[in-house]
Amino acid sequence: MTGLLGYIGVWILICIHVTPLVSAQGRTQFVHYDFTKADLHRDGMATIEDGLLQITGNTTKSTGHAFHKTPMKFTASSSFSTEFVFAIIPLHSPISFGQGMAFVVAPTTDLRSNGTETSGLGLFSTANDNNTTNHILAVEPDTNDSAEALDRSSNHVGIDINSKISVESADASYYNETEGKNQTLLLASGNSILIWIDYDGIEKRLNVTLSPVPTPKPDSPLLSSSIKPSVPLLSRYINISEIFNETMFVGFSGSTGTLKSDQYILAWSFKKGGQAESLDLSKVLDPPNPPPPPISSPPPSPPPSSLPPPTLPPTSPPKSGSNRSSRALILGTTIAAFCFLIILGGIVYLLYKKKKYAEVLEQWEKEYSPQRYSFRNLYKATKGFKENQLLGAGGFGKVYMGMLPSGNFKAEEVKMHLKIGMLCSQSNPENRPSMRLIVQYLEGNVTVPSISYDTSGFGMPNISNEMVTQLTATSSLANFSFEDVTVLFGGR
Ligand SMILES: *[C@@H]1O[C@H](CO)[C@@H](O)[C@H](O)[C@H]1NC(C)=O
Ligand SMILES: *[C@@H]1O[C@H](CO)[C@@H](O)[C@H](O)[C@H]1NC(C)=O
Ligand SMILES: *[C@@H]1O[C@H](CO)[C@@H](O)[C@H](O)[C@H]1NC(C)=O
Ligand SMILES: *[C@@H]1O[C@H](CO)[C@@H](O)[C@H](O)[C@H]1NC(C)=O
Ligand SMILES: *[C@@H]1O[C@H](CO)[C@@H](O)[C@H](O)[C@H]1NC(C)=O
Ligand SMILES: *[C@@H]1O[C@H](CO)[C@@H](O)[C@H](O)[C@H]1NC(C)=O
Ligand SMILES: *[C@@H]1O[C@H](CO)[C@@H](O)[C@H](O)[C@H]1NC(C)=O
Ligand SMILES: *[C@@H]1O[C@H](CO)[C@@H](O)[C@H](O)[C@H]1NC(C)=O
Ligand SMILES: *[C@@H]1O[C@H](CO)[C@@H](O)[C@H](O)[C@H]1NC(C)=O
Ligand SMILES: *[C@@H]1O[C@H](CO)[C@@H](O)[C@H](O)[C@H]1NC(C)=O
Repeated sequence: MTGLLGYIGVWILICIHVTPLVSAQGRTQFVHYDFTKADLHRDGMATIEDGLLQITGNTTKSTGHAFHKTPMKFTASSSFSTEFVFAIIPLHSPISFGQGMAFVVAPTTDLRSNGTETSGLGLFSTANDNNTTNHILAVEPDTNDSAEALDRSSNHVGIDINSKISVESADASYYNETEGKNQTLLLASGNSILIWIDYDGIEKRLNVTLSPVPTPKPDSPLLSSSIKPSVPLLSRYINISEIFNETMFVGFSGSTGTLKSDQYILAWSFKKGGQAESLDLSKVLDPPNPPPPPISSPPPSPPPSSLPPPTLPPTSPPKSGSNRSSRALILGTTIAAFCFLIILGGIVYLLYKKKKYAEVLEQWEKEYSPQRYSFRNLYKATKGFKENQLLGAGGFGKVYMGMLPSGNFKAEEVKMHLKIGMLCSQSNPENRPSMRLIVQYLEGNVTVPSISYDTSGFGMPNISNEMVTQLTATSSLANFSFEDVTVLFGGR
């Protein structure tokens, strides 16, 4: 033990607490930045290319649908919230718009037979329009003022219940906080637009809020919540239990008429029963560049031979006076430029790597300031995860004893963190404390329960209360300070 006098012992507990949480939430909560990884039911024009979800494309009088495959149960008091980034690119010149699209909650993923093209947005036809057996709620960014849908303009957002005739609509605009007034927003501009749809199941209020996505796209994390206008564009009392069936699907629908648009979903966050996770705008893919509008008359062909091709830079060496020295000069500068490019490329690559592997701290981590340990330090502290450092194996990982080479620690704190770690690593997820409870333990608002084999459930690391006391006793002589004490939150 004397050999360790220069060291302060800290018990490192790795608790991976998160796997069951994620799988339980996967059904009613998700975030997509790359739709190739999304589990979607698609039909019609809907495709996924380069990670983008395209709802409609270059086909006249057609529809496209994409639904999250897993159905969700809604009760009378269910809330839900979603936000997504979309881009609508008109395919005509001079510019005229296609039909638009909608976020949809529907009782089935197959709306092909029901929804028609043009103003129906792939949802409603003359056969089913305004029929309560539809069980459809939709929020539409609509880019065509169809007469049969009594649309107000060719640039509006509407709430549809079982019918293409919106129950509420407004011209697309967003509230600018600094100016204190509404600013109009062109939906079919080809630019990325954020839309939030929030339903409170107690208040029974549905809000729809728009905002342009800042350009150029931020390159460090920027949460969409930070740019959400405080005033929604639409806010309406809706009783979803009058609309929804028991199980419902969420997704998107869109249509084209004689005119068409490329309509894309670039990112999508959804949650049933609470606020959807904010999108990180730096992660949202850019919309594809709008294709050059088709030219109606054939382009004037350039008069033959009279003009040389204007774009090519002169590549031939200087004319008649070229000699050995000028050739050497060219060769020299070429090599120098080549080397410079390689070095520049190397620097860019290193910066990229540094950024790629940079640690991202989330807000709660900053607040409670737990320190992180690199794998290298953990490896050293546990002597390379040696067998004789192994204290036991919990339900979600092995627990090793480790010594960190520096820092001052309070024995009581160390003891507490050790206990919390053990509570986290129980095999039965229900016995493990929640993150909220852990924070309360750490702040001292709730006392950490004592640990025994009887209460902690099967799969506890093989150490007891007494062992905690014994193992930390040697450290209690040292002059500990609170700031350096930390616990590893293994997974999130
Ligand atoms: C759309 O399709 C038509 C024919 O199918 C083609 O002529 C036109 O170039 C396409 N437009 C774009 C923007 O791809
Ligand atoms: C709306 O669609 C109709 C038919 O598809 C078209 O004639 C009209 O020009 C469109 N309106 C706009 C504003 O693009
Ligand atoms: C609505 O739910 C009932 C059973 O709860 C089912 O019979 C019916 O087919 C559903 N309607 C639709 C449109 O899916
Ligand atoms: C839709 O149906 C309701 C009754 O279910 C009726 O009151 C309303 O007028 C209808 N709307 C239209 C546009 O037909
Ligand atoms: C509504 O649709 C159902 C079948 O989906 C049909 O039996 C009923 O007649 C329709 N109601 C109206 C008013 O069209
Ligand atoms: C779609 O149409 C089918 C019949 O073609 C009907 O059974 C079904 O209820 C309809 N679904 C919706 C959501 O309207
Ligand atoms: C709001 O208005 C201010 C002042 O005109 C402008 O600088 C800012 O870009 C606007 N914000 C958004 C999100 O458009
Ligand atoms: C909807 O907007 C109103 C007014 O801004 C607000 O009071 C309410 O809390 C919002 N509801 C939801 C579900 O966002
Ligand atoms: C801005 O638009 C919202 C929603 O349409 C409306 O309630 C509000 O009165 C408008 N505010 C101003 C200053 O025009
Ligand atoms: C909502 O609709 C359901 C079904 O029609 C009804 O039982 C319930 O009372 C309504 N809730 C409110 C608050 O109106």
